Amino acid sequence: MSEWLQLEKQCNECKKCSLWENRKNVVIGRGNKTAAFMLIGEAPGEEEDIQGRAFVGRAGQLLSMALSAMGIEEDNYYICNIIKCRPKNNRTPYEQEIQECLPYLDRQIELVQPEVIVLLGNTAAASLIDKNIRITQQRGTWHEYKGIPVMLTYHPAALLRDESKKIDMWRDLKNAWKRLQTA
Ligand code: URA
Ligand code: SF4
Repeated sequence: MSEWLQLEKQCNECKKCSLWENRKNVVIGRGNKTAAFMLIGEAPGEEEDIQGRAFVGRAGQLLSMALSAMGIEEDNYYICNIIKCRPKNNRTPYEQEIQECLPYLDRQIELVQPEVIVLLGNTAAASLIDKNIRITQQRGTWHEYKGIPVMLTYHPAALLRDESKKIDMWRDLKNAWKRLQTA
């Protein structure tokens, strides 16, 4: 069995945390599995849970449009989440759920081997960089995860609530993409 198939099987059968109880689908990721550009969000929402695909709801569509406007299409990136099953009512995942699920994300990173990672929102940044990170203060800054350069930016759902954040997110995505071109 290929390494990806093995990972997908493990995720689809996973009952490590209680989020499995209410899921319709495990949401592993979408896009190009060998892309140099990887984006990581929080957890599947309602539409993602129904379709079994990452970032296909309103927030995801907004992000895809922003990327596309920069000439970055689905074939240019891989996108997934910290957590693979939808928390009820889209609540923020608990620390224990994040710790249970993290090995799957680490494996995805090993398989994709991205050159640049973008973390979308507080949960992703807190999970991989620093628990005390405040995305409103630290977006736009570079960090590192397992030796890979990491850019922090807003979660696209935050843009749906506050349009004024768009410019900053555009800037962060562009900077992350640019780093890839000059790497
Ligand atoms: N929000 C996320 O963090 N991930 C998704 O896949 C959808 C919405
Ligand atoms: Fe397993 Fe992650 Fe789903 Fe929890 S959220 S059941 S750890 S795949």
